[in-house]
Amino acid sequence: MMDPNALNHDVIQAAGIDQEEIAALFQKWTDRSMQGVDYSLLSPAPYVALNDPVRMKAQSLGEQAIRDGRVAAFTVAGGQGTRLGYDGPKGEFPATPVQQKPLFQLFAEKIRAAEALYNTRIYWLIMTSLQNDAPTQQFFASHDFFGLRESQVRFFTQGQMPAVDAQTGNILMSESGQVAMSPDGHGGSLRALVRSGSVDFLRNNGVDTLSYFQVDNPLVQSIDPTFIGLHLLNKAEISSKMVRKAYSGEKVGHFCLREDGRQSVVEYSDLPHELQEKIDPETGELYFIAGSIAIHLLDIDFVARVGGGVDTELALPFHFAHKKVPYTDSSGKHVVPDEPNAVKFEMFIFDALPLAKQSLIVETSREDEFSPIKNATGVDSSESSKSDQSAQARRWLEAAGEALTGLERVEVSPLFACTEEAFVERWNSLAEKPVIKEDLYIQP
Ligand code: UD1
Repeated sequence: MMDPNALNHDVIQAAGIDQEEIAALFQKWTDRSMQGVDYSLLSPAPYVALNDPVRMKAQSLGEQAIRDGRVAAFTVAGGQGTRLGYDGPKGEFPATPVQQKPLFQLFAEKIRAAEALYNTRIYWLIMTSLQNDAPTQQFFASHDFFGLRESQVRFFTQGQMPAVDAQTGNILMSESGQVAMSPDGHGGSLRALVRSGSVDFLRNNGVDTLSYFQVDNPLVQSIDPTFIGLHLLNKAEISSKMVRKAYSGEKVGHFCLREDGRQSVVEYSDLPHELQEKIDPETGELYFIAGSIAIHLLDIDFVARVGGGVDTELALPFHFAHKKVPYTDSSGKHVVPDEPNAVKFEMFIFDALPLAKQSLIVETSREDEFSPIKNATGVDSSESSKSDQSAQARRWLEAAGEALTGLERVEVSPLFACTEEAFVERWNSLAEKPVIKEDLYIQP
């Protein structure tokens, strides 16, 4: 039988695919059992704890950087949201407990709130994928950019990688006779930032720090002065937020320290079970307690170096995902597999940690900053996240001295307040306070 790759040669070439790179990656995938990483050499990475007094000093430094327009927000929103089962860009998903605001609206309001607070302008970069770029941009246009100026929101699409047959390594063709492509992972953002001209754009506009967050976490503090200040104080090229893992099997990445002294993140699917469960005899807590919540600060020069592709030592590695990918076989028949048949290649942003000359990990509080919407039901679902958002708002009301009974769902507009401190101040200054009732929306 003729080699299907030969048959599709022209299509593959036209798609600009580096076939040598794909062949080398497939070889790595087939050899993967021989590339054992010795996880026992890892130790927990150090981090700036919640009660560290250095935070006070950092806050004012971070505030000044925001005021000076040095910080832009950056959301990675190119994922396919398969687990949530939502048919459309995830940022459109109704995420808040009372108003059902879409994630994109919530982030836009947080950015507007920071702009007002610091009397500055904050650019917002949004990475989409070819699959969801058009609907994402339409969504913003049809909602007047949620009160932001169109010129301050900058969309760009991430790169793509072909899927290959897991048995043969042949590049798969889709039903339309094109190469079966999928997004190259959120780590592709570094290349895409450079390729799209965004790095130049940011530099020309005086921005040197990107505040990176995923599209799935309504609680994210998208512009956090203390985090920014710590990042700048430590001259870090990448900084990351961590929370203490809720339980050993929680599906988050783990912040680790490698033998060479570099920090890294090891995904829950890679860290051996016994290490995830291991207890630190001194503290009685999990040994690898620091969980990644995928919030980072990125120095623009670092993005340019890693994303620029000039120094191959600095390139992010590819990870492999064994997935079901529909394809057209060599006889022209369309096949929808029941079992994983293909390998997809993705880069992860956190693989940039060991590439940095200086990296920093900062603790944050889970209840105030992490409640992602990943699944349709149960853990990390829209229901659990809405309940966590309401709980945060109730804590803020209690801190402002309100005695709460019968308050089920409550939501605070970011344009009213973004932190407990700001909430208490604003609430107490209200001449007329809203009546506390079952469904309460505290609006600007
Ligand atoms: C991710 C992290 C995990 C972390 C957790 C915290 C990975 C592999 N794992 O898990 O370490 O603890 O979040 O919530 O990242 N995206 C793109 N383009 C892509 C793929 C994804 O933009 O090609 C975006 C998605 O839109 C989303 C984010 O990246 O905003 C996360 O992607 P997802 O694959 O859902 O990561 P998780 O497995 O949830």
